[in-house]
Amino acid sequence: MDEWYPNKLVVGSEGTTGTYAFMKTVFDRDQEFRYAEFGIYMGDTARNVCELFPNCELHLFDYTRAVQRAEAKLMGYPNKISYFGNTQKFNDSYNWSLMKLIGQHEGAPIYDYCFLDGAHTVAVDALNFFLCDRLLRVGGYMDFDDYKWRLRGSSLDPAKIPAIGEQYTDEQIDAFQVRMIVDDLVRRDQRYEEVVKNKVFRKVA
Ligand SMILES: C[S@@+](CC[C@H](N)C(=O)[O-])C[C@H]1O[C@@H](n2cnc3c(N)ncnc32)[C@H](O)[C@@H]1O
Repeated sequence: MDEWYPNKLVVGSEGTTGTYAFMKTVFDRDQEFRYAEFGIYMGDTARNVCELFPNCELHLFDYTRAVQRAEAKLMGYPNKISYFGNTQKFNDSYNWSLMKLIGQHEGAPIYDYCFLDGAHTVAVDALNFFLCDRLLRVGGYMDFDDYKWRLRGSSLDPAKIPAIGEQYTDEQIDAFQVRMIVDDLVRRDQRYEEVVKNKVFRKVA
């Protein structure tokens, strides 16, 4: 049961264009800022961020095999990049790496942009939002992918990935869990202002 997560997902070879297209509207090419991505898959969004912003520092989080793959793909870029891998044990995730970073930085905000595109579940990503909130500078951005996504019918459908049926109830498999995080946690927080519908929120206080 150590490696239960699928190798192939439905993600295009250019990554998430909406994310770096938005970033182009708020960051200058030469600007120095720090970007974190939770769930990098093939590293293609990160690759585009490197190409567009050579002075951007990246913190990339995923399962160990994905961060190793990205490390090989991104080694030619001048950007400073830190990689944070975790195992596929049921209760391991990028949140563990984040907790350690919060400790190392003594709770100081270190990020200007957090792109959350990993587990897409409340169990993992509701906590991720609260941890990112601690680490995000005022004026920074929280970006959520897949507002309309759910486990049922996805690459993680329990009919294809039996571990999902063991980890989640039917109600959770049918729920739109990113939407729950955005609607019930982010939108209810007056310190966040929606800047791209259902996707990007700016921390204003
Ligand atoms: C949709 S893909 C990410 C696509 C990528 N952001 C892009 O734009 O190209 C989701 C990624 O989240 C990672 N992921 C899911 N659950 C995770 C967990 N518990 N810990 C670490 N990574 C996880 C998967 O390995 C996968 O690579």
